[in-house]
Amino acid sequence: MVEKYIAQIEAEIRKKKFGSAPRSLYEPIRYILTLGGKRIRPLLTLLSYSVYRADAERVVPYAVAIEMFHNFTLMHDDIMDQAPLRRGKATVHQKWSVSTAILSGDVMLVKVYEQFLGLEENKLKQVLSRFNQCAAEVCEGQQWDMEFETASKISERQYINMIRQKTAVLLGFSLELGAILAEAPVADQHLLRDFGINIGIGFQLKDDLLDVYADQKKFGKQVGGDILANKKTFLLTQAMKKAHGKQKEKLHKLISAKKFKPSEKIKAVREIYDDLKIREVTTERMNDYFNKGFALLAQLSQKEKANTLREFTKNLIDRQS
Ligand code: IPE
Ligand code: IPE
Ligand code: MG
Ligand code: MG
Ligand code: MG
Repeated sequence: MVEKYIAQIEAEIRKKKFGSAPRSLYEPIRYILTLGGKRIRPLLTLLSYSVYRADAERVVPYAVAIEMFHNFTLMHDDIMDQAPLRRGKATVHQKWSVSTAILSGDVMLVKVYEQFLGLEENKLKQVLSRFNQCAAEVCEGQQWDMEFETASKISERQYINMIRQKTAVLLGFSLELGAILAEAPVADQHLLRDFGINIGIGFQLKDDLLDVYADQKKFGKQVGGDILANKKTFLLTQAMKKAHGKQKEKLHKLISAKKFKPSEKIKAVREIYDDLKIREVTTERMNDYFNKGFALLAQLSQKEKANTLREFTKNLIDRQS
């Protein structure tokens, strides 16, 4: 089922005509959308819909609208994070320019709304109002993420709220959208959204882990990028809490250094993480959030039909990219 859905998502993306001139405005949209990517969010929409109905191909365009929104956030996120690599290739602002990445991203967001315009009128308003709430929260989370780069101490609560907004609410909306389109009971729409928020938090914890420990060949992004940007990831906030004495001094020195060799900073911070068993603590917290999500899934009215969704989600825990 998942392979079939991926094929439908890819076909819908390939057939989309975003616009032609100026080429440099539209080319980056096609570029980022065809670079690959796991397509997790549109899959969650289709899997959520398919808990209730068998004709998921009907809603593929709306699942793809979410993937387009996700790719728009990536295009702008890579500018903010000064990231050189995305899905194994140069980021849009590196390949073209920052201005092009801003504007291509903007028009991509417009195309998301255009895609939603195909919805039946009785769904359009609900979907757009839920989507707008989610999209504004993503921006709020992204702004926190940047502000935290220069903050000295971030609590676990502040961190979790930041990743809930920047990442988890979109997974939540992807699932809620599937349920809304399938006309699932309102209680199920909310359960699926909250399932998405919990696994979304787990998903971002895993993303933080991979940013430090992934195999560069598989990862597709720059390993160590979060360390170089002083991102207050779960790993760094925990390390700052757990480190004492000389190690704490060393960590602070690494974070505040203005001049450093990137590979040395990454290696030194990773050594502190290893020493403090930060990888284990993060994995534990990630598992907690996934498990909270699975407990919600078990409350669905149609829970016996949610097996594919559950199995698909389980695979996100052990992903390598
Ligand atoms: C990356 O998302 C951004 C985060 C919210 C962590 P994905 O890991 O889903 O990226 P792609 O779409 O598969 O490339
Ligand atoms: C990204 O978080 C969240 C959004 C794109 C909204 P990250 O900055 O950790 O995502 P990656 O690691 O660049 O994919
Ligand atoms: Mg970011
Ligand atoms: Mg980033
Ligand atoms: Mg990341």
